[in-house]
Amino acid sequence: MGQNMEHLRQLPACEETVLILAGDLACNIETIESSLRLLQQKFGAVFYVPGNHELWINKSDGLSSIHKFIAIIELCERLGIHTRPAFISEECAVCPLFSWYKENLFDGFTREKFDMPFDTQTMWPWDITGSGDTNDAQQSEIADFFQRLNSRRVSTAPATAVEALRQAEAEWKILQEGQTVSSRRANKKVHNKAPTVISMSHFVPRQECYPGPRRLCGVMGCREIETQIRNLGATCHVFGHSHIACDRMLDAIRYLQHPLGYPTDYHRKVKPIRAFGGDAISHAVDISKAPLATVGKLILQEIARDPGKLREPARTSTRKVDAW
Ligand SMILES: [Fe+2]
Repeated sequence: MGQNMEHLRQLPACEETVLILAGDLACNIETIESSLRLLQQKFGAVFYVPGNHELWINKSDGLSSIHKFIAIIELCERLGIHTRPAFISEECAVCPLFSWYKENLFDGFTREKFDMPFDTQTMWPWDITGSGDTNDAQQSEIADFFQRLNSRRVSTAPATAVEALRQAEAEWKILQEGQTVSSRRANKKVHNKAPTVISMSHFVPRQECYPGPRRLCGVMGCREIETQIRNLGATCHVFGHSHIACDRMLDAIRYLQHPLGYPTDYHRKVKPIRAFGGDAISHAVDISKAPLATVGKLILQEIARDPGKLREPARTSTRKVDAW
């Protein structure tokens, strides 16, 4: 068993907590399923988007990465894992955004300058890319395809949240210019009933959120993610992919990456971090002191007795969520 799977098994059960899982869980679909089942048992609800590693395919089976993407979304539906936007309380909604990367994320970056193979284990049909190069994952049409999948969730975002973000953006700009906010907002209606929207994507939405090697700048994310975040009225965005931790405010939105990563990663974070509903650091769970989760142990014991149990439908979320 891998160290990360063992880590998941040892997470304490937190049934009042909603987990935001920003992808790159595994390549193998059986491992994706067993990991999601495990997390489903630990948390009250799990929101998830597939990353690039999930879309690696075994070329001998003849299926494309689009087939695998759809299979994973269907798996999530079956397990009760959330890939669609939903309110987790009256005050807070979570909106998963599907995404990919293209060369437009960084100012001045072009693929010609830093061309390198990446995600060649994926396969993309002509109907998505319009080209015959099925293994070139850096074709911009792939990011455009995933962006279009988000259209409905973006167009139906809570209007009060969108308006509240516009106001926060204006205030942020005023603060950046060194003026006081109070003098400018005197006649403005404050949207104190707007819900908090937390968006999530696997890929990086802004160049400021990736301080890593230049050669990877073309495979980190794309600017369209940022546009969709702001059109959702999100005030916090959770992302993954780079394995580099990030927690910073930019133009009135908090950008958060809290990577588990590989066991050898420098930025590895073994304690979850809270994005909403309390202090971000003090509520983090110290798994080194936590007892082994009894529910997880019981499941493992049951599976050991009857391996067929692994394929049974998972429980649905204990935490009530409502579509927005
Ligand atoms: Fe990734």
